[in-house]
Amino acid sequence: KFDNLAQTPPMGWNSWNTFATDINEELVKDIADAFIDLGLKDAGYEYIVLDDGWSTRERGENGELIADPKKFPSGMKALADYIHSKGLKFGLYNCAGSKTCAGYPGSRGHEYQDAKTYASWDVDYLKYDWCNTGKLNAEEAYITMRDGLKAAKRPVVFSICEWGDNEPWKWGKDVGHLWRVTGDITPCWDCELGHGNWSSWGIWKIINMRKGIREASGPGHWNDFDMMEVGNGMTQGEDRVHFGMWALFASPLIMGNDLRAASKETLEILTNKEVISVNQDPLGIQGFRFMNENDIEIWIKPLANDGWAINFVNMSESKKELNYDWKKEHIGDNTVNRNLEVDKFTYEIRDLFKKQDLGTTKNNLKATIEGHDILMVKLKKK
Ligand code: GLA
Repeated sequence: KFDNLAQTPPMGWNSWNTFATDINEELVKDIADAFIDLGLKDAGYEYIVLDDGWSTRERGENGELIADPKKFPSGMKALADYIHSKGLKFGLYNCAGSKTCAGYPGSRGHEYQDAKTYASWDVDYLKYDWCNTGKLNAEEAYITMRDGLKAAKRPVVFSICEWGDNEPWKWGKDVGHLWRVTGDITPCWDCELGHGNWSSWGIWKIINMRKGIREASGPGHWNDFDMMEVGNGMTQGEDRVHFGMWALFASPLIMGNDLRAASKETLEILTNKEVISVNQDPLGIQGFRFMNENDIEIWIKPLANDGWAINFVNMSESKKELNYDWKKEHIGDNTVNRNLEVDKFTYEIRDLFKKQDLGTTKNNLKATIEGHDILMVKLKKK
């Protein structure tokens, strides 16, 4: 793999959650424009990734992939040029199996050829799925594509989209830059939808699914909790929880909403630089669950310069008064040997969504948290 890429979690947009295979070049150009006009590029978003459905139903005469000429009349290279002209990066999707999940040509047996095609189109990011794979060994299949990309010589962020059955966190580090850890997310708080022999889950189920894998994550190799559903139908509070938790997980921040139609409130969440800075923290440590107190989930993430991010999530539907005593529980992270030393030092507390200072750890933290909403704070050593 290309080792200097994705030193912080990749940020961008992917077409799937809103558009599925109903994609075309006007849409993608509009999204690229929106990145600039709405301040998304300025907030750190970089990759525009076309998911399933961009190619023709069959390969060409020489076995090559072809962009669907109805959806992309100017071709992929022209689209990549447009995206690059805005200072952004371009991603495509394919699959390790014989066909993609939506039935388009997969890369099986064409890995090196496809990698060359992507390089000729100036592709910067490849999301690589896991449908129609028969008896393929996952690790081997992803290694084949990684080597194909290497051989094509254009640096590409390699996104492993295996949903967890083959435990990509155990082998993904040297293969790709991120790997999915669950099935597909849906814009709902805690639902579970059957989809054949696997499932789609709401944000809270996804959050709780893979607790033992945080050590696998770090600069250049991230646990991917899936493209986001912010702006796709949950309440604003639920969207804030979603975004705050993805930030705390050091998950890639890949937007999945229609940016052309995004509300002011949605954009305010997605462009919140203080929350994003927790996600992009240079230490790259994934946060974890600390405790639950009176229906408030408390999750923590160590940050650079002895800082901490702490998410207080109100799991109930009614509002709660938080009165958190810093001295009561010992906040620490054994895996990196870091502790919050409230007896020795004072930490300043900042509310990252309300963008307000909340005093210091010398006093209890008092706040009202609405139902299904979050208080996300950053502690900074004085
Ligand atoms: C799988 C992936 C999704 C999306 C679709 C496309 O379900 O997990 O993210 O790429 O395939 O068909």
